[in-house]
Amino acid sequence: MTFHIGAKPGQIAETVLLPGDPYRARWAAQRFLDGAELVNETRGMLGFTGTWQGHPVTIHGTGMGQPSMSIYANELIRDYGAQTLIRIGSCGALQDHVKLRDIVLAQAASTISGPSSTIFREANFAPVADFTLLSKAHTAAQGKAHVGGILTSDTFYDERDDISKQLQRHGCLAIEMETAELYTLAARYQRRALAVLTVSDHILTGEALPSDQREQSFADMVEIALHAAFD
Ligand code: HPA
Repeated sequence: MTFHIGAKPGQIAETVLLPGDPYRARWAAQRFLDGAELVNETRGMLGFTGTWQGHPVTIHGTGMGQPSMSIYANELIRDYGAQTLIRIGSCGALQDHVKLRDIVLAQAASTISGPSSTIFREANFAPVADFTLLSKAHTAAQGKAHVGGILTSDTFYDERDDISKQLQRHGCLAIEMETAELYTLAARYQRRALAVLTVSDHILTGEALPSDQREQSFADMVEIALHAAFD
């Protein structure tokens, strides 16, 4: 048991899938895991552990933004020994060729700030995905996923258009709010991490996926994440 996770020692699997939304954790656990058991509900942040094709897996919510991701990833890694951490979440597309419902595999995550950013002083640390997970996710997505850099932002409602314009110009595929800190913590503790993201909205066109159409895309992401972890 930690500050934010009530699970007993041994109740968290070495492989953890991390949706932002705790209800998505419940939905994914019910749909994909055998024998899923609720192992955490502290502050309404739900975590479930079960098995997928015989492999122990935990699916745990992270909340939104790097500070919240940082709390859960730190405790899962340092207190529960999580080895493989895969974020499954949504993102806003920053390129014309990236469409609603597409899958983005975040090869690297630029960020403006975040819980770890000040420890690097003048250096611009580049948080990157684990190559093996990335490669396996790419195979599992049958070549249909976009692979490239994303921006992990601290603001969903950002007034600074010029920042996303510069990132777009430099090939950044999408914006979301958690991955850079996950990758940084994985680097710090020598764990494996990846973010598998679905495009839920388009920054350039203003389109957004209605919530009732998000389920299938979410299921695709969970499958890709599980195959990346175990294939
Ligand atoms: N911006 C930031 N985070 C997001 C977005 C977005 O447009 N869509 C989903 N997560």
